[in-house]
Amino acid sequence: MTESMVRPSHIAIVMDGNGRWAEQQGQPRSQGHQAGSDALKRTVEAVGKRGISTLTVYAFSSENWQRPSVEVKHLLELFLNALNRDVAELDENNVCLRFIGNRSAFNAAIRDGMRRAEAKTRENDGLFLNVAVNYGGHAEIVEAVQQLGHEITQGVLRPEQITEALFEDRLYTRGLPAPDLLIRTGGEQRLSNFLLWQLAYTELYFTDTLWPDFDEQHLDIALADFAKRQRRFGTLPQAEHA
Ligand code: FPP
Repeated sequence: MTESMVRPSHIAIVMDGNGRWAEQQGQPRSQGHQAGSDALKRTVEAVGKRGISTLTVYAFSSENWQRPSVEVKHLLELFLNALNRDVAELDENNVCLRFIGNRSAFNAAIRDGMRRAEAKTRENDGLFLNVAVNYGGHAEIVEAVQQLGHEITQGVLRPEQITEALFEDRLYTRGLPAPDLLIRTGGEQRLSNFLLWQLAYTELYFTDTLWPDFDEQHLDIALADFAKRQRRFGTLPQAEHA
């Protein structure tokens, strides 16, 4: 990789393929999620090292509750362990942690862990790491609409004052720039209800690599692919304007 390459400043990742990775190894799915958690740690480090300012990962979708209860329990345990064990290290590495999604479905220990992690890392500005938990893009948009509706009925907002910027300010991702690059591992080519508003002009990158196998080399390949893209945001390339 050359230093002059255009890099994304915000990467979003759908970390897919933990279950199939475990199956290939003849291991239970829980081992796949454990290996996925290790891959996430590696990726946070690699992204930080490359000077990319923001990383948003899809850790638990609002649909994941429908998985077998033993798998849901394991995912929640992994999450709680990470909150208890990894936050101090993230803090030392100047990572600012934020959770996006509907927290009300989690138990008090997890909700408290998320609150403490955010408070502890609030002032950090090395890497902004957003973890989507019980996240659904449709639900996020509906919640924003409900909030704007309340503001209108309370008389503090008029419908014609609603702009794209105001709407974005009611989303979980308020204050964050839109992702420049979305990476999805595991071979599927879909968004799965992730960041539906925010991905409007994001470059999409799909790889067959299963998430637990994703490493620095895979990240660099995705970054090199991104550097070749011509981003137009709905306009024409500069030369064709004349
Ligand atoms: C998709 O693989 C992955 C998930 C549903 C969970 C992602 C969770 C982690 C990477 C664990 C770490 C997270 C935290 C915050 C500690 P899949 O199970 O759908 O794989 P499959 O498509 O092969 O079945």
